[in-house]
Amino acid sequence: MIKSKKMAGRAILMAGPPGTGKTAIALAMSHELGNKVPFCPMVGSEVFSSEIKKTEVLMENFRRAIGLRIKESKEVYEGEVTELTPVETENPMGGYGKTVSHVIIGLKTAKGTKQLKLDPTIYESLQKEKVEVGDVIYIEANSGAVKRQGRSDTFAAEFDLEAEEYVPLPKGDVHKKKEVIQDVTLHDLDMANAKPQGGQDILSMVGQLIKSKKTEITDKLRKEINKVVNKYIDQGIAELVPGVLFIDEVHMLDLETFTYLHRALESAIAPIVIFATNRGRCLVRGTDDIISPHGIPLDLLDRLLIIRTTPYNQKDMEAIIKLRANTEGHVLDDEALVTLSEIGTRSTLRYVVQLLTPAALTAKTNGRTAISKQDILEVSTLFLDAKSSARILTENKDKFMR
Ligand SMILES: Nc1ncnc2c1ncn2[C@@H]1O[C@H](COP(=O)(O)OP(=O)(O)OP(=O)(O)O)[C@@H](O)[C@H]1O
Ligand SMILES: [Mg+2]
Repeated sequence: MIKSKKMAGRAILMAGPPGTGKTAIALAMSHELGNKVPFCPMVGSEVFSSEIKKTEVLMENFRRAIGLRIKESKEVYEGEVTELTPVETENPMGGYGKTVSHVIIGLKTAKGTKQLKLDPTIYESLQKEKVEVGDVIYIEANSGAVKRQGRSDTFAAEFDLEAEEYVPLPKGDVHKKKEVIQDVTLHDLDMANAKPQGGQDILSMVGQLIKSKKTEITDKLRKEINKVVNKYIDQGIAELVPGVLFIDEVHMLDLETFTYLHRALESAIAPIVIFATNRGRCLVRGTDDIISPHGIPLDLLDRLLIIRTTPYNQKDMEAIIKLRANTEGHVLDDEALVTLSEIGTRSTLRYVVQLLTPAALTAKTNGRTAISKQDILEVSTLFLDAKSSARILTENKDKFMR
């Protein structure tokens, strides 16, 4: 639903007992959406910071969750880097050290090669993007902004540990007009236009939406930016990409922030908001006596699409534990897996997942590579889950200090 872009301005609530995978699903979502669709996770209690207003925290995250894809035709120099030489001179101000006076860069395309002599500020951008010989990059002629597109695929045989993106050698001339696409969030735009010197790392146009730069992000600045954004959308230069604002433990918000959220959801530019909570009926924070399902005021609750998450059964837990052990590089024998899932049904999935590492260490100390039932039983007496700990507290309450 998110990918089809039909959910903007709507809100979803995932409700279910602890350990039923609400936070896990949110993480999985952000991975699946990739880096083109913004995903901004936060926890309800984050709004209670001593320095920033509650609603300001929310608004900032709201704007982090709204993307803008900007298409521009630009004059660029593009190619595979064949040479990258900073040329140094003695520091003209006297003193020690040398300064870069200019940088020589060679760019190659399928059609030809060109050598450019560039300003030292561009050298900084080149370093920021970690450009090396053999990378395919483009440099914007007007702003000098540099964008690294990937490694040239002539080097695809290189043995690389990190996943690299390989791109073909660009066609056409080095110096040309190019359709450039940038993905930014509204928050990026706020920042680029607020900071006195922002905008170097973000490409040119975005950093100059507004002529006079201010030092702070204010409501007024945001309004101005929205105006320009709307104009770009109308002109077909930009496209809105509603992302996801994920608010975990939403019962931690209070009446004021709920009201603010409700209003923000109605605005024309809004992301998809996903809430999660493990609370049943409880007090709405910031009120004296309003009890409501999930601690959410009824009028907001009324517009949510609610997804229920239910506890995993033993078979589900086995599957999840197995996956988890694989990811963490632990080997489990079958008996250990069953034991873990049994403990999981009595305590929580989160608890048994956390037992994996200590159990693996115990197995290793005993000279074994696979985790056995015995290791699980041993660590489960050393580390308690919340329920057992609470039980021990009540059973021994006279032995503890008050
Ligand atoms: N489907 C799943 N696949 C893999 N791991 C999962 C899955 N569901 C839950 N887990 C793991 O189980 C543990 C608990 O899940 P999660 O943190 O998502 O619960 P939750 O519903 O957010 O609980 P709470 O209400 O307490 O915040 C985590 O370690 C999580 O990684
Ligand atoms: Mg959670």
